[in-house]
Amino acid sequence: MITTSGLTKVYHPHGSRGGAPGTRTPQEIVALDGVDLHVREGEVYGVIGQSGAGKSSLIRCVNLLERPTSGTVTVDGRDLTALAGRGARAGRELRRARSRIGMVFQHFNLLSSRTVQANVELPLEILGLSGKERSRKALELLDLVGLGDRAKAYPAQLSGGQKQRVGIARALAGDPKVLLSDEATSALDPDTTRSILRLLRDLNQQLGLTVLLITHEMDVVKSVCDSAALMERGRIVESGTVSELLATPGSRLAGALFPVGGRATGEDRTVVDVTFHGDAATRPVISELARTYNIDISILGAAMDTVAGRQVGRMRIELPGRYEDNVVPVGFLREQGLGVDVVGVTDDAPAAGAQTSPLVKEGAK
Ligand SMILES: Nc1ncnc2c1ncn2[C@@H]1O[C@H](COP(=O)(O)OP(=O)(O)O)[C@@H](O)[C@H]1O
Ligand SMILES: [Mg+2]
Repeated sequence: MITTSGLTKVYHPHGSRGGAPGTRTPQEIVALDGVDLHVREGEVYGVIGQSGAGKSSLIRCVNLLERPTSGTVTVDGRDLTALAGRGARAGRELRRARSRIGMVFQHFNLLSSRTVQANVELPLEILGLSGKERSRKALELLDLVGLGDRAKAYPAQLSGGQKQRVGIARALAGDPKVLLSDEATSALDPDTTRSILRLLRDLNQQLGLTVLLITHEMDVVKSVCDSAALMERGRIVESGTVSELLATPGSRLAGALFPVGGRATGEDRTVVDVTFHGDAATRPVISELARTYNIDISILGAAMDTVAGRQVGRMRIELPGRYEDNVVPVGFLREQGLGVDVVGVTDDAPAAGAQTSPLVKEGAK
């Protein structure tokens, strides 16, 4: 539904433009450095990364609010970068294509002098709908986001969560197939965040809306995303469906989505993180392992959690002996279809119960 290939964005702050072609002045900022993103129809896709990683640049390039320096953006089969050519006709086609892409912002971007209903009607005015049609559509959208009774209120009279609901209703005005969200919940408290995420999930399921959301909060990815990508310095360094990520040894996203703690109790030990999902979650794999190889297994940490709507279990276990002595039992675990990740003895494992992910610092904007 959304594909970017080789997407780059270079900003030229004041006065840094105009060196010899092909050279880069020191002030230039490479915000996107060859991003290949693929969001499938009907999924909720999360891009996570620290402040400055390039997340907002990516989302703004996806709807051509920002002109990419190079690379292509295809949304719903249309190459938007090709439409972004010069000339009035190209401009019109791009505007039309863009009206089918809804966008939700962190700070809501509502007009304070307009009522809630008039804010939702704004994009409909631009699309040229009559007054009656606009009003009908706006009220229908406000009902959909649970604000049917606040149509006549002004933004200043609403809570943050309600303002974001208006922002979402406005984003849906052009009947988009794709909704882009740039930190839509970052200005909201945890309860309100949960209710807005639930709304996005409902819209995704009821309307078949594809959602690309940008966040610096791992909990957002954990509660609503089907797929996720980790962005660093303008590049995507990891991506996949959440289940794929959880099954990928060494995945930093998986570790941050679902941290399990516990340290080796001695030098001569092998520590293994085991991820259970699907059938494997209900089989007595650990006791089979102990019996088959006659080894004592210690459990250093374990948790069950719901990730992307599915139950997943994680366990950090310790086997006696170094890794070389445990190749066969580790192979046994892999054969059972479990996610198996041997933790390096010198690895800086996250502490048990660690709440903050090492990927993304708090307070990023
Ligand atoms: N309009 C702009 N002009 C110059 N530099 C910018 C502009 N927008 C973003 N940047 C720079 O590009 C980099 C990526 O920024 P951004 O895409 O906003 O990242 P994020 O949303 O992940 O915080 C940062 O170094 C930022 O300072
Ligand atoms: Mg940003």
